[in-house]
Amino acid sequence: MRRYGQNYGGEINLQVVNVVYVAHCLLKNKLTGASNIVDATAGKGKDTLFLAQNSGLDAEIWAFDIQESALDVTKRLLEQHHVSNKVRLILDSHANIHQYIKKPIDIAMFNLGYLPGGSHEVATHSSSTLEAVEQVLRLLNHGGLLSLVAYPGHEEGQRENTLLQQVFSGLPTRCFTVSKWEMINHFNKPPIFYLIEKVRN
Ligand SMILES: C[S@@+](CC[C@H](N)C(=O)[O-])C[C@H]1O[C@@H](n2cnc3c(N)ncnc32)[C@H](O)[C@@H]1O
Repeated sequence: MRRYGQNYGGEINLQVVNVVYVAHCLLKNKLTGASNIVDATAGKGKDTLFLAQNSGLDAEIWAFDIQESALDVTKRLLEQHHVSNKVRLILDSHANIHQYIKKPIDIAMFNLGYLPGGSHEVATHSSSTLEAVEQVLRLLNHGGLLSLVAYPGHEEGQRENTLLQQVFSGLPTRCFTVSKWEMINHFNKPPIFYLIEKVRN
């Protein structure tokens, strides 16, 4: 039986299927034609690297984080892979996205919570996350995607997820499709992945 992550050449990549993997799989096709891309939570730069490596040469990527140390790690990772020229690293809250981005957004990624291995005190917060999500939804291009991974396993993450679920489920069907993915046999409130596509202006 073919395992997830095994390519047709027979090379085996033991990729664990988790929310971030699902997000990457669903974004990959659209990335090739995307020109204005946002990573709202750069963290250790893995998502920023994924966006940079899978988008066209002319794509512009904006990566936000409120921690300078996170952006330093992201910068090094991008440099190691020779894609740093496509990425603007912004040391600011994603709640201020509108101050930097004026053009329609093709793809935006949010991977909420705290920096793995970092302080749990510096996590995303429902008020700024909602502000950022609303700004991205307003700027989202026709056919554009907003991908968001929420972590309801901690207290603020649960509040954040409840509010996001309310906002996402209330989006008008005429303009947006909203889907949700989670592991239903995992306990202790596993992460949840949302994908929103703007289908009509
Ligand atoms: C789960 S990590 C992101 C993981 C990252 N995408 C990666 O691939 O490594 C969440 C990040 O969000 C950042 N963050 C928290 N609040 C933020 C805000 N208001 N604006 C931008 N980034 C924020 C944290 O500093 C942390 O680095």
